[in-house]
Amino acid sequence: MSAKVLPIALMGEEILHQKAKDVQDIHHPDIQKLIQDMLVTMHDKKAAGIAAPQVFKPLRIIIFRVPSQTTNPKYQLTPHHDPEGVPDTILINPSFEPLSDKRYCDWEGCLSIPGLLGRVERYYSIVYRGTLPTGKTLEREAHGFHARVFQHEYDHIEGRLYPYHIKELKGNFGYREAFFPITG
Ligand code: NI
Repeated sequence: MSAKVLPIALMGEEILHQKAKDVQDIHHPDIQKLIQDMLVTMHDKKAAGIAAPQVFKPLRIIIFRVPSQTTNPKYQLTPHHDPEGVPDTILINPSFEPLSDKRYCDWEGCLSIPGLLGRVERYYSIVYRGTLPTGKTLEREAHGFHARVFQHEYDHIEGRLYPYHIKELKGNFGYREAFFPITG
């Protein structure tokens, strides 16, 4: 039984706009298989993260990473980017708290909203926790892009997509090529 690339739910699909349910038995083979398939799908799409509702499963499972470096023009490596990167992190039933009121705006994309980008405000520093596929608990502080990726994926399991946070659409939401033309 090898892992496979799963189809992605697009904005408008009901499952993306509903709150996902807690995972009860993380050791269930179906859950472990889903996690492997989500990992393969995230890497296949060269995404920074993926949440179970995006692959049509209404469950509180998120996966994300922070690339240490990249040649993929999809990623804007900003000053807020963690230069050491964060390895693939799988969190089941995650939660988080902001560490301060400080927020900042930056661009986000989403597998469920292909081709588009939006500038979204997020907490700059958070602490998040969740259960790993092994059953152990992980708690981590995250700042900048790392904190942003977590908050974006957490939104998915709450049934929210990043455009919900864009207060002024003008200049803050549109096609990637329009904002960042690829030259040369
Ligand atoms: Ni997304």
